[in-house]
Amino acid sequence: MDTYTPSRTRHAVTRTPEVEGLLEQIDRLDEKTAQEKMLPAGCYTSPAFFAFEQAEVFSRTWICVGRVEQVAQPGDCLATEVASEPVLVVRGDDGDIRALSAICRHRGEVIPCAEAGKKVLRCPLHYWTYDFQGRLVGAPRMGDAEAVQRLRQAVRLPSLRLELWHGFIFVNLDEKAAPLAPSLAKLEPLWAGYEATGLKAMPPVMSDTPLPWNWKVHVENFTDAYHTEYVHIGTHDFAPSVLGDDGVRYMDMKPGDNAIVRSVPMRKPGGGMNSGGWSEDSAFPAIATLPPEQRERITFAMLPPSLLLMMAPGTIAYTLIRPAGAEATLAGSDRVTYGGWLLPQSTLDLPDLMERCAAVSAGGSKIWAQDVPMNRGMQASKHSRFSPDGIYGPLETTLPQFNLWLLETYRRAMAG
Ligand code: FES
Ligand SMILES: [Fe+2]
Repeated sequence: MDTYTPSRTRHAVTRTPEVEGLLEQIDRLDEKTAQEKMLPAGCYTSPAFFAFEQAEVFSRTWICVGRVEQVAQPGDCLATEVASEPVLVVRGDDGDIRALSAICRHRGEVIPCAEAGKKVLRCPLHYWTYDFQGRLVGAPRMGDAEAVQRLRQAVRLPSLRLELWHGFIFVNLDEKAAPLAPSLAKLEPLWAGYEATGLKAMPPVMSDTPLPWNWKVHVENFTDAYHTEYVHIGTHDFAPSVLGDDGVRYMDMKPGDNAIVRSVPMRKPGGGMNSGGWSEDSAFPAIATLPPEQRERITFAMLPPSLLLMMAPGTIAYTLIRPAGAEATLAGSDRVTYGGWLLPQSTLDLPDLMERCAAVSAGGSKIWAQDVPMNRGMQASKHSRFSPDGIYGPLETTLPQFNLWLLETYRRAMAG
């Protein structure tokens, strides 16, 4: 009764002829051609392929749903979604954070977060109640005490895999998934300077209107070091991908890696975001405990498929991605909505913090306004009979790296 089996519907949902056709095309790619060519356009437009990705990518990889600050105290609860599954992230009296399916075991109503101060999850339809470990507590009018006791012993909200990584909460619907942290090992050295001062999150607002493109278009735009010089004139010049002998640097991508990483230099150390975009005058002051290398560069890390990080001298700005359809993506960050910053207490204590946040948000919005038509154009081109196979230049190394990540993930799905 309480076993969650994500594979139950997998094959029925995923293996339509259209999906099979796309997978055959993908299967013909080898490691070399996947680095030279874009994936078939149908991977960005097909509702059936999107269903395949929901079942095989978003249900089997680690999805970031928020931050520990959002469930700071016992009794705190965060309602979220993973691959369209309603999920509750709760902190129990024991201090542990757990992820539970939010689907009531009675007849399947979606259970919302507990009311503040009430450490019990209550289904709104017939008031079955559960504790923060998912155990059934009460089931009114379901028979005598003995009958209810039998239910209490049998019924439990499915518990989902959860992993914390530097305060980010990741959930995985696949109970057999490999642990997350080893796949992010190459990012570890970047954290020490931030964590020496301690960071607290101002979580982003998640957009409620889907952006009209596939989630892959969104993350490709984020990771593309080539477009900044052309699309972001006036907002990104301070952090160019080519700067004399310096410029963008990449981290190697090995099989099993879950981070696609590039860094770019700034024209002056300690810069950051301000109301006009990247600037030597950062609205969030540079963090003193960062090593010089990290005060001179901005690191962009994509943790596919759900989290984007910008590690800047004054903050780590993050974007949460939640796909809503083949051509619909929800996102939350200082570029798309508001918030999504990790900040030291010294910045949070500044008397003009709100003005600084507004400046960062304004700068991010300017950059985003430049990206939006590009993303619309890329999505539109996926429908074109003239859609190209693509050619990647030296400033686009992260894109073939992402292709390899996708190839590995799709192949794992094809293998069953
Ligand atoms: S569906 Fe939840 S109590 Fe009936
Ligand atoms: Fe951009």
